[in-house]
Amino acid sequence: MNKLATVFWIVVGALASLPTWAQDLRPAFLLTGAHARDSQDLSGQWTYSKDLYRTGLTDINGWVAKSRMQRYRDIDVAAVEAKGGADFFEFDLDRGPLMAIPGAWNAATPELRYYDGLVWFQRKFAASPQPGKRAFLRFEAVNYRAYVYLNGKEIGRHEGGFTPFVLEVTQALRAGENRLVVGVDSTHDAQSIPTTITDWDLYGGITRPVRLITTPATFIDDATLALRPNGRISGEVRLQGPDAANQQVSLAIGTVASVRAVTDASGRVVFDLPAPKALARWTPEQPTLYDVRFSVAGDVLRERIGFRTIEVKGSQILLNGKPLYLRGMSLHEEEFGPNPARNITEQASRALLHEIKHGLKGNYVRLSHYPHSETTVRLADEMGLLVWSEIPVYWTVDWDNPAVLRKALAMQAETIYRDRNRASVILWSVGNETPVSPSRTRFHGAMADNVRQLDPTRLVSAALLVERQGDVLAIQDPLIDKLDVLAVNTYAGWYGADTLDAIANLTWKVPSDRPLILSEFGADALAGYRNDGNRKFTEEYQAEYYRKTLAMADRIPTLRGMSPWILKDFRSPRREHPVFQNGWNRKGLLSETGVRKQAFGVLRDYYHTK
Ligand code: GCU
Repeated sequence: MNKLATVFWIVVGALASLPTWAQDLRPAFLLTGAHARDSQDLSGQWTYSKDLYRTGLTDINGWVAKSRMQRYRDIDVAAVEAKGGADFFEFDLDRGPLMAIPGAWNAATPELRYYDGLVWFQRKFAASPQPGKRAFLRFEAVNYRAYVYLNGKEIGRHEGGFTPFVLEVTQALRAGENRLVVGVDSTHDAQSIPTTITDWDLYGGITRPVRLITTPATFIDDATLALRPNGRISGEVRLQGPDAANQQVSLAIGTVASVRAVTDASGRVVFDLPAPKALARWTPEQPTLYDVRFSVAGDVLRERIGFRTIEVKGSQILLNGKPLYLRGMSLHEEEFGPNPARNITEQASRALLHEIKHGLKGNYVRLSHYPHSETTVRLADEMGLLVWSEIPVYWTVDWDNPAVLRKALAMQAETIYRDRNRASVILWSVGNETPVSPSRTRFHGAMADNVRQLDPTRLVSAALLVERQGDVLAIQDPLIDKLDVLAVNTYAGWYGADTLDAIANLTWKVPSDRPLILSEFGADALAGYRNDGNRKFTEEYQAEYYRKTLAMADRIPTLRGMSPWILKDFRSPRREHPVFQNGWNRKGLLSETGVRKQAFGVLRDYYHTK
């Protein structure tokens, strides 16, 4: 057996040894590269029906809902009513009000602004199923639980407000008109991720696009490729379908490389090849993306992939072997405007990222506190912004509950499977500001192990709480042994009694051999509220807060970057000061309509020095 083949089988053996729990987390279908597949976009006007008392799911005594309330039934209510007779209904999605999907219902009508519960949505669409083809519905996100029915049949369910899911509908799809009904339940509780306690608005609904995707009977369900620090490119391809085994898979990386390999009995094949000499590395300054093509008889999967390496060496973060400083900003998923619907179109996302990349001269964005739209992550690849990605294990969850841990691991897996071909993503974070306890540290430890199993090519971090002893700020968190990069949120000068002048006295006690990121710092300011700066909520105070905090940052020798809190004011029901807030967290460097505050210029000038 030649040398290359020997290496090939060694790699296959290594990758095949994933523990079963990591394999169990793989969703039934991924449809990686779905955006490039032929599909029917079901965005548009959907009818809806409120169901605050959940009558469409369960009856008063917990039994199955009465048929007159089952929103998902495949019936023409008006036609039945026209015949007269005993049957009657207490819903009709055919004649319901309309809502633009994708988009959260909280922004759709004043009546739904604070609605938190179950809403049913319907979309009728024409289809012409072809023999031998398979059909799937891919939801990019539904917040928080989804109950999916097609033509009256339950197709599947999903929990989690920010990750995609794929349901096969080959058997339920019919020629002509189809009736898709989705029950969306925004309710959170002590066992959800996140719980009901957050500092951002609810945004319930079908918040990202839904597409009908058709594939051949045997198709490429997943394909991943990455450049490793050893100078080789490796990854795997997985086919699904009756002819998945012993299929030749061709891989072309632009015009710089082309190889072939044959799938094993399970339809899986691993690639491992030396990086071509002509391969341009992806960097924020030069975000080179290659058209990568995975093909088998009858199917092609297209991806645009950047090739780079990310590592930690001592207290340095190395991008393509060179020390990196992260000039970043934190961001919630909320478009500019007075009434955001969390409808992140490419234009909306580009407007936000433009402020970081070109307004602030940044090279990094913390997509907080949950997986953002794949539109945003793809734009980060294209524009050259490095990304911190996290799932909403935020403040506190039910640490002792194995079912909640499983939810977190599954949510991480859905995020990693979705984004592991994105060069921009360099950090997977396992938590935000979670109070230290043995069960919490075990929970995060399992999350860190999960990330390393699913994706050994990226770094692990967490936004930790800072310990304070007088003027000394320290990180004393047992979790740091599981992290590659330490990160901490600090608000001295905003929360607490510190004056802005007192910030100058603060010193940091952190491990000297680990890179540190200031994952959050910030102060509120109402755009246009001006005075001499000695009053909180003024633009001058926020600007001076930034000057003093940035001077403190310069005194931390292991600091390798920051993502100040936050690019833009964002909706939060926690923030109800009637003059300064009115339901908005005002820590943005821009107002909700995109007006830059004084502090924007302070940070931009600072980043010019980095
Ligand atoms: C915390 C938290 C943010 C919150 C911010 C604030 O650090 O991570 O989600 O919005 O503080 O208080 O504004």
